[in-house]
Amino acid sequence: MNIALLGFGTVGKGFYDLTVGREDVKVTAVLSRRPREELTCLVSDDFHEILASDVDIVVEVMGGLHPAYEYVCEALRAGKHVVTANKWLMCEYYQELVKLAKENGVALRCTAAAGGGIPWLTNLERVARFDSIYKVEGILNGTTNFMLDAMTKNGSDYGEILAEAQRLGFAEADPTADVEGYDARRKIVLSANIAFGVDLKEADVACFGIATVSAADIAAFTERGLVCRLIASAEQAADGSITATVEPTLFPAAAAEAAIVSSGNRVVLYAKHIGEQSFSGAGAGGWPTGSSVLCDCLNILDGCRQFYTDQFTPASAAGNALRRYYIRTSAPLSVAVEESLGSGIVTAPIPAAQAHRMIAALRAEDNTAFMAALR
Ligand code: HSE
Repeated sequence: MNIALLGFGTVGKGFYDLTVGREDVKVTAVLSRRPREELTCLVSDDFHEILASDVDIVVEVMGGLHPAYEYVCEALRAGKHVVTANKWLMCEYYQELVKLAKENGVALRCTAAAGGGIPWLTNLERVARFDSIYKVEGILNGTTNFMLDAMTKNGSDYGEILAEAQRLGFAEADPTADVEGYDARRKIVLSANIAFGVDLKEADVACFGIATVSAADIAAFTERGLVCRLIASAEQAADGSITATVEPTLFPAAAAEAAIVSSGNRVVLYAKHIGEQSFSGAGAGGWPTGSSVLCDCLNILDGCRQFYTDQFTPASAAGNALRRYYIRTSAPLSVAVEESLGSGIVTAPIPAAQAHRMIAALRAEDNTAFMAALR
């Protein structure tokens, strides 16, 4: 199959490397703003020239919403299969893109959009065919895991470790989507939609990142034998309502999550009959993420045309799951307190949605306020 590659950044280059020497899947056109002397295929900055060339699959790894959305729609309408690693695009235009692919009789796959090189979405697809998945959760952002792990190991300051993450190429120059949890939120939206057959939006997921975590918070957790990780979670109750959150979470040092170091990912699904299944590995990087893109292309070559699910049931994101929270703030706090922890407190169990409303209000008064759920 001939592939048009839109974007030649880390993932695009990683995917390209993996196709070199293959006969079944060949990159024959690359959309690039600048010339690429190293490439022998068609290289153009004109999407229409790329689309008009003899291609079967359009691989979109440019990121961002626009023009990725316009290019993907045009490719689907032109009868091309589309493989994308773009979680933002897939969250924002989820049903619309799936419907468009179906109407045009072509495949739309996005395995690389959540979990990088981990075959996470494909496993959700597999399990959802024969079992009832009621919870998906885990570490889905490598940048923040690298930062929390380094802060725990070295006692580093947040600012220091963010600069280090940027220097190593984990965090973007603008790290907002990683540290505020938006990247993990997009990944959990896609995961929940496929696992539960629903149509959650980003706004349905209560989200609090690690931007205000301090070295003193981490030191207090360590003293108590606790390890902090950014956890994205979606859980469906028996009445169908969903609690979906992205939040720093404290685990005992012996927990599996605490053993995920550097920029690693670990995700877990919980289903009625098979119980718990966990997946860990590289959640980012050119070759791991490029491998998921390649796997999608190979599945299309083998005849895969369906999306991961054909269910888009509206679901209420009530956020009723009860959790205990560590909260550290200088602003006045009115909540039942169970104990103190470092310079913060631990609340009695409260609904997750309430905790997130509370921390948003606190942060408006005290922009250093931090919160973490306790497991
Ligand atoms: N910024 C993302 C991360 C890249 O750190 O996990 C992979 O989606």
